[in-house]
Amino acid sequence: MLDLLIKNANLPDGSSRVDIAISDGRFTAVEPGIDAEAKTIIDATGHLVAPPFIDPHFHMDATLSLGTPRLNRSGTLLEGIALWGELKPLLTHDAVRERALRYCDLAVAQGLLAIRSHVDICDDRLLAVEALLDVRETVKPYIDLQLVAFPQDGLFRSSTAEDNLLRALDMGVDIVGGIPHFERTMQDGARSVTRLCEIAAERGLRVDMHCDESDDPMSRHIETLAAETVRLGLQGRVAGSHLTSMHSMDNYYVSKLLPLIAEAQIHAIPNPLINMTIQGRHDTYPKRRGLTRIPEMLDAGINVALGQDCCMDPWYSLGNADMLSVAHMAIHATQMTAPAQMTRLFDAITVQSASAMGLDGYGIHKGNPANCIVLQARDPIEAIRLGATRRSVIRGGRIISETAPKIARLSLPGRPETVDSALYAPMEAAG
Ligand code: FE2
Repeated sequence: MLDLLIKNANLPDGSSRVDIAISDGRFTAVEPGIDAEAKTIIDATGHLVAPPFIDPHFHMDATLSLGTPRLNRSGTLLEGIALWGELKPLLTHDAVRERALRYCDLAVAQGLLAIRSHVDICDDRLLAVEALLDVRETVKPYIDLQLVAFPQDGLFRSSTAEDNLLRALDMGVDIVGGIPHFERTMQDGARSVTRLCEIAAERGLRVDMHCDESDDPMSRHIETLAAETVRLGLQGRVAGSHLTSMHSMDNYYVSKLLPLIAEAQIHAIPNPLINMTIQGRHDTYPKRRGLTRIPEMLDAGINVALGQDCCMDPWYSLGNADMLSVAHMAIHATQMTAPAQMTRLFDAITVQSASAMGLDGYGIHKGNPANCIVLQARDPIEAIRLGATRRSVIRGGRIISETAPKIARLSLPGRPETVDSALYAPMEAAG
């Protein structure tokens, strides 16, 4: 007898009427017409069953701290960094842990089961590092949490940052981070990229750097990151987060840069929600969109993964652990409105993010760990359009979150009694 059988599923690749068999925590068959007994059966009713959402760029040490000790009045990156500096001395282990665990509860409810979080290592106490290492262990049964040692105040600009970063890695933090555009000079920024990549190469670790997070067309740390990646043989193990300066760069220069990034197999991680709110702040009109060149990078063969970055913290007062809202914003900001492009941005919050994080066994395939979500939508575009309800969230073959389908009851003369917005597209209704 199967542990769990999901009937009548649509899959992100467009296949429909598929059944998914699960036993001992793994997918044992993914095919039409599975006729087997199961302890639990979910009828997906023609809805989309997708692998879990993944957020490859987040700050869990700051999340849910909105308003502590005050709000970001200007909304700028620099006031956010200053505000975080005011909050840091006030942090306690228990408070960081509690906020992170509450965020992880929300993430599970949203079908978000893998998160890469940067953790600021510039507090000499490394209190947030200890708290998030604790959280990583606690959530291990239901969330894959990777931690990045992030020198928020600058590797060279902060006198203790390098020591702290090495200590954090010794304590078990997974990945080497950086923030070259925040160092004092462009040269210091480039030197920090080199030093951090060397640390990663020596230790056999991955790199994920906040890189060129500005509107400065001359900020070119991604070029250094690509060159150092190749020099040190780190291809496929390095991510460049944000890359917003590329929006403002000269087109000829970008035509040379994109092949370098592709050659280095660097994963690009734009963060549409925060990039759209923080960039372009010095512009009058026209205002730059503040998002890197996503369609051009995809055309160049670069893996693009979308991150959320922030949720109710010094930089961003909104957010809901909802990766569908991230893809929704990306579609608008990049004008990637063709069906194949929208589907590609669904991939950017699922399979492409899994690739950026280097996750093994991801996807609804026979033999993989049985991690998936049942959405109240029939396909990836509809899921993004509706911000689809996560009907069931399944981890290791176990249902760990359920939400009732969103169906409104109407009281209108001569009109239907209910509205299920997932059935309102001008196409044949599922049934
Ligand atoms: Fe970030």
